[in-house]
Parts: sequence; structure tokens; C-alpha cells
Amino acid sequence: MKNKGRVLVTGATGFIGSHTICELVNAGYDVVGIDNFSNSSAKVLNGIEKIVGKKVPFMGANCSHAESFKKVFERYPDITAAIHFAAFKAVGESVAHPMKYYENNLISLMNLIDLMKTAKGNIVFSSSCTVYGEPDSLPVSETAPTKPAESPYGRTKQISEDILKDVVKSDKDYKIIALRYFNPIGSHPSSEIGELPIGIPQNLIPYITQTAAGIRKELSIFGKDYPTPDGTCIRDYIYVVDLAKAHVKAVDRLLGNNSKSNFEIFNLGTGNGLSVLELVTEFIKVTGVKLPYKFVDRRPGDIIQLWADPTKANKELGWKADTSISDVLLSAWNWQKKLSGIK
Ligand code: WQD
Repeated sequence: MKNKGRVLVTGATGFIGSHTICELVNAGYDVVGIDNFSNSSAKVLNGIEKIVGKKVPFMGANCSHAESFKKVFERYPDITAAIHFAAFKAVGESVAHPMKYYENNLISLMNLIDLMKTAKGNIVFSSSCTVYGEPDSLPVSETAPTKPAESPYGRTKQISEDILKDVVKSDKDYKIIALRYFNPIGSHPSSEIGELPIGIPQNLIPYITQTAAGIRKELSIFGKDYPTPDGTCIRDYIYVVDLAKAHVKAVDRLLGNNSKSNFEIFNLGTGNGLSVLELVTEFIKVTGVKLPYKFVDRRPGDIIQLWADPTKANKELGWKADTSISDVLLSAWNWQKKLSGIK
């Protein structure tokens, strides 16, 4: 297969970055991954190799350090596009340490923008549904107004999108796609890679699987008194492999010069909202495992309900998140069983 060009993936050993590398390689792209392992493990590289059947080029680099980042482009002058995942993303931590988030997330992006200027200027940016805040109507489409973010993490995503918008206005050499993820969950069907939270999981699915594996005593469901059908928050949970495939479609679009403008935004969600309690009930049903849980107070900063209108990505990217929630939950449980040595 003719080489389709080399794609730089920052945050390569992260949850979404690692799954995306597998899909890029499967689609015939050459890849170079970079990471500084500040929030991930080098062991992920072995998992990627087992999945794609070959070593994927990788360099240790910190995107917020321009000198180390620049070495990647000197080593790989054939980079034609970049997918930028490298960022801190823990909402709660960002409230406690805002400057850690502003420095890392924004300086990394600005360094990437500078370096991509002489590398064809094709950038896919990992954005987030958090830019919508609590939307006025649902499902939320890309034209919905962004709301003041609930956290410095969310604000770094909003500021990053604004920086990218200004850059394409001033410099026609850049073509950029921002992908707004809803809630990425699940693990690769091979169980060679998956979500690897460090410490106590902040996100729902790893907390569920660790509870089911006996690592956590019981799941606390944050809030049972929300104005939703069952009183718990509603989210749009999207399979991480479906999400990864959307990134390949975005790179195809940029390299195929099919963008309709130099800065495009796409929601990456299923279009279905599921409550926490519905998800917990489905997990118990599909896995057959006991999952002790209790209802506790609301978590500060949580929005009540959010799910995507994904029709723009469906139509323009020719992409759809179509994995069933039961298969996604099973993939998460299989991964946890492997991590925990459960047969
Ligand atoms: C989901 C629901 C919690 C844990 C997402 C992304 C995050 C960031 C922000 C990504 C909420 C409830 C959770 C638990 C619970 N953006 N919950 N008990 O908050 O939607 O954050 O958007 O780019 O990375 O994950 O996801 O998984 O933390 O919470 O009841 O132990 O589960 O209240 O309603 P959230 P989450």
C-alpha cells in the first residue's frame, strides 16, 4: 500500500492516543508517536506493537519544551499531519492546580503550531464537549454556543480552540480540525491496551471496573436528585475505538484537501444519552458481576446532561460511532480482568 504520509501523534501512550495510533497504522499511515509519560506508561508501546504487528516509531519528548519537541521534526522531516492529544485532562486537578494546566496544555499547543508551520500545517486537535458547559438544548450541535467552562481544564480547551481559529485567520498554511469528544470509554478488543488511570479513578468506567474487580469497595454515584428521569446525570458514552477511527477520517480529510474551511469542528459522540444508573445497570447485566454502589452527594462542577448531535461528523467525515454500549462495557471489563489477573 502506498505510504499515505507520516502522522505525528502527541500523547501517544495515552488512552485515546494509543488507540488512534493502532487505527492510523491499520489505515496505512506511517506514524511517529511522542510522549513524556507524565500521565501514561511506556508499556503501552508493547501493547500497540502486539496489535499492529510491528514497532511504531516513538520518541520521548515533552511538547511544552520547544527544544525537545523540535528534535522530533528534525528526526522525522516527513511529518505531514499531527494529531495533538498531549494535555492534562483531570477536571478536579485542574481546579486545584490551574497554572499546571495553563502552562502544559497551552504551551504544548503553541509549540506544535510553530513546528507544524514547516510541516504542511495539518493539525487535528483533541478538544472536548466541556466547551459547551450546560447546553440550553439537547442534543448539542457544533453551532451551539460555548459556555464559560466549569474548570481550568475546560478553559484550556476553549482557549486552545480560539488560538487555532486565530492562527488559521492569519496564516493560510494551516488546515485544522477540532474534534470535540464526548465521554470516551472502553478498551481495545484485543485487551492489549485500554484505560490506565493513575491512582483513584476520576472517571466513571474505570471506577466501575475497579469496583467490580474488588480493587474499590463500592461505587459512589454522585447525585440522585438531578432533574433527569432517574435522578442521575446523563452523558454520551462513546467507544474509544470508534473515536480513534474518527481521527483517521479527519487526517484523510486534511491530506485529501477536502476541508470546507481551514478550521472545522466536529462533535464525536453517539447521539445517545445514558444516565449513570442506566450504565451501571447495563454493566451488571452484560458482565453478570456484582457491583456494589451507593448514592452520595452531587460532585461539584458536574453538568446535568449532555449528549451530541453527531450528524455533521456522520455526513462530512463518513464516520459513525456504532458499537453497542454492551460491547463497549464488556471491552472495559475484559481489560480490567486482564489488568487484575482475573480469569
Ligand atoms: C461521568 C458521570 C459523574 C465517577 C468528561 C471526561 C473528562 C473531561 C470532562 C474530556 C458524571 C459520574 C463519575 C464516579 C460517578 N473531558 N460519576 N461516580 O465528568 O463527564 O468528564 O468530561 O475530554 O475527561 O471524562 O466524566 O466519567 O468523570 O463522569 O457517579 O466515581 O459519572 O458524576 O455524572 P465527565 P466522568
